[in-house]
Amino acid sequence: MRVLVIGSGGREHALCWRLARCPSVKALFASPGNPGIASVATCVPAGDGTPEDWLRVADAVNADLTLVGPEAPLVAGVADCFRAAGRVLVGPSRQAAQLEGSKIFAKQFMKRAGIPTAEFRVATDEAEAREALKHFGVPVVLKADGLAAGKGVVVARTREQAEEAALDLLSGRLVGPAGSRLVIEECLQGEEASFIVLTDGRRVFSFECTQDHKPVGDGDTGPNTGGMGAYCDGRILDAVERRQVLERIILPAIETMAAEGAPFTGFLYAGLMMTDEGPKVLEFNVRMGDPEAQPLMHTLEGDLAEALAAAARGALDESALRWNGQCSVCVVLASEGYPGPPRTGVPIAGIEQAESLGAVVFHAGTRRTDQGLVTAGGRVLGVTASASDLPGAIERAYAAVRAIHFEGMHYRRDIAHKGLKRW
Ligand code: AMP
Ligand code: GLY
Repeated sequence: MRVLVIGSGGREHALCWRLARCPSVKALFASPGNPGIASVATCVPAGDGTPEDWLRVADAVNADLTLVGPEAPLVAGVADCFRAAGRVLVGPSRQAAQLEGSKIFAKQFMKRAGIPTAEFRVATDEAEAREALKHFGVPVVLKADGLAAGKGVVVARTREQAEEAALDLLSGRLVGPAGSRLVIEECLQGEEASFIVLTDGRRVFSFECTQDHKPVGDGDTGPNTGGMGAYCDGRILDAVERRQVLERIILPAIETMAAEGAPFTGFLYAGLMMTDEGPKVLEFNVRMGDPEAQPLMHTLEGDLAEALAAAARGALDESALRWNGQCSVCVVLASEGYPGPPRTGVPIAGIEQAESLGAVVFHAGTRRTDQGLVTAGGRVLGVTASASDLPGAIERAYAAVRAIHFEGMHYRRDIAHKGLKRW
């Protein structure tokens, strides 16, 4: 099979790293890719990022299967464009991708499907926002309706903060037009978990549960980021909780999408809050998580490319993939300034030493220059290591982290520490 992966971040490096190990993959391409991906795949320049442009790339490399990393191409309809041209792509249609593309769509969908989620109201102007806020106490959560790269959610601690956030979002100051409509919702308490499945529209393969770390600082302090690290551990949810997530959330979502004429294929990601009343959905994503993909791909067994192709055909074999039972930890190394504007062009040292300690170093924001590898984004590397237990995986990942250096580098020291209470 000739496989094309769309994207250029740490998630796409992890996906390519796993795909390159699949017996069914005869040629692997990534567009645009990155210097880390270039060690396992052929990188092909991207054009303007429209669905038609991705189709041209797939045509040029004659891809038998295309996998999309980020959400934007899916929300823009890349799957519909490929299907119309007879090219196989695994991922939801534009209509099904609304589960991530519009928070209002997602909330109204969950209500119709009976999927547990926070109580909510929709607001499209200041007066509606003020009225909606009366129905909630504090803290209260405000969300931009559209795609906002993780920056469209405000957890307001006071009524004044909430009103200010509503104005900032509605006026476009915070995230542009994505904030012109809002979801205002009840703040849920509990521990967060990421539950990701691969589905062909009916059957599902459930990946092992993972946890992301969104705030920049240790102990979940400071501003939110795209994710400062993630870990995969079979103990995050017990068997009862897993069944609840499948039966109350994942399967109803897939069945309702199909019943409403927008069958969902590809990766469905439920961001969960494990509350006293059971699991509730914070958000749906229509793609693999980043950085969840890094620990997941590090511990996945089976031919991923075959499974993806089968999902795209509507014939997923749930037993084709397996988790190897290990715990895996990914620590993100970020640039000075991140999550604000990052300092870039800084030389990176120590990746080989880190890998000699048993870790895989996934590239997220790097660039190859005449002077060697330099930083090229906010999140630079995802240092990923596995072991039979969580303490061992944490130790191995951080030992590798300490081998890497670039000026201004910062990272969280407590990735996966929440999970230690289960060991
Ligand atoms: P989202 O992009 O919807 O996942 O929101 C980003 C982050 O905001 C989540 O990972 C949570 O930490 C937080 N969040 C979102 N919705 C809620 C909620 N209803 N209650 C508490 N925290 C939330
Ligand atoms: N890790 C959060 C996300 O992929 O959206």
